[in-house]
Order: sequence, then C-alpha cells, then structure tokens
Amino acid sequence: MEVIIDTADINEIKVLDSLLNVDGVTTNPTIITRSGKTPEEALKEIIDYLKPEQKLFVQVVATDYDGIMAEARKINALRPENTYAKIPVSPAGLKACKDAKAEGLNVLSTSVYSSEQGFLAAVNGADYIAPYTNRMSNYGDGVQQVKDLIEMLRVQGLSSKVMAASLHNTNQVHELIKAGIQAITFPPAVLHAMIDHPGTKIAVDEFSESWEKAYGRNELGL
Ligand code: E4P
Repeated sequence: MEVIIDTADINEIKVLDSLLNVDGVTTNPTIITRSGKTPEEALKEIIDYLKPEQKLFVQVVATDYDGIMAEARKINALRPENTYAKIPVSPAGLKACKDAKAEGLNVLSTSVYSSEQGFLAAVNGADYIAPYTNRMSNYGDGVQQVKDLIEMLRVQGLSSKVMAASLHNTNQVHELIKAGIQAITFPPAVLHAMIDHPGTKIAVDEFSESWEKAYGRNELGL
C-alpha cells in the first residue's frame, strides 16, 4: 500500500518523510492556500524536496474542459516523472480524464463521492481514484463505499488504484487497510495519531525509570 501525505506544509512533509517510507504528497487548491505561500513557492519547495521516485499530485483549478486539459499538461510537466494531475470527476473532468489518458498524461480522479463515480473514472483509465471517505459519510457509509469501489474494480478487472482521501480518524484508516486499499493520502494529524500512541510513551517511560533506578544510568551501557 502506498503511503501519501495530504499537505503542502513542507515542514510536515520533512518530518513525516523522515519517520516513514513515504510514497508521495497530495495537494488540493485549499491545501495550497493553507501553506500561506504562493502556489509557485509552495510547489517549488515540495518539488525540490521530493526524491524522483516519490509521487506528487497537484489539482487543476480550471473547471472547463479546455482549461482542465491545459492545466493537466502543465502539472505533468512540473517534474520529469511521477507527477499526476488531480482532476475532479465533474462531467468536464471525466471527459478530460479520458482524453488526458489518451495523451499519456498521469491522472488522479478526485472529488469522488460515490463508488459508481469512481468506477466511471476507472473506465476512463484514471491511474488513481480518490474517494472522499469522510465527506461521503454525510451521504451514507463512506468507508463501505470505498470498500465497494475496491471490490468493483477488482471484479471488473480495472487497473486504477484506489487512493482513499478525506480520512478524519484512525478507524477509517484501519478499515480500509484491512480491505486492501492500494493507497491512502493521510492528513498529518491522522498519521500523527497513529504514530504517537500514548500507551507507547507510558511503556517507554516505565522501562527508563526502572533501569535508571536499578543501574543509575539511562542507557544500555554494555
Ligand atoms: C485529497 O487531497 C483530498 O483533496 C483531501 O483528502 C480532502 O480532504 P478533506 O475532506 O479533509 O478536505
């Protein structure tokens, strides 16, 4: 499963990339505005930092077909490889996904709110499909919809990878890993909640305390 980080905060990217084997970074227009930088500055910092094999996903802002196609080409040209245009599954976006794939561009279909929409993006050849798990929960069972999408693509022999997005808690993550999700884009807060379990700190403090009490030092010292 690919581990992707859903942020444009370069400090968060560096911290999480040092802790884990990170496969890439996703952004969307709102995430880029939160960086407090211009899109050019925010993306340059990320591009300069990422290794060539780490993937970068940047979303189009245009909403009309021609604009989406032009931006998808620009995004793909940001780096020599491993860069994907995130295209929402609006009618114009679905059409752009089909034509961008025919042109050989890398595409992630985003803003997916149902397994059926995700299926259509897979029919159009999207490399990745990003269902908005938590947002979908406002319309039903978001996690179940994502599980259904994984299964729909498997039984239909469609090769798109499902990248779960909009995850707001570790339980959603747990369920989707178990279901065989191919990629997850993690908000840093959810990943930190998985990394920093309070029980682990209590256990480590207990070991340090007993060692220090018995041997008067806080290292193995053999
Ligand atoms: C992916 O990059 C999506 O845009 C993102 O996960 C959406 O998450 P949100 O529902 O927390 O805004």
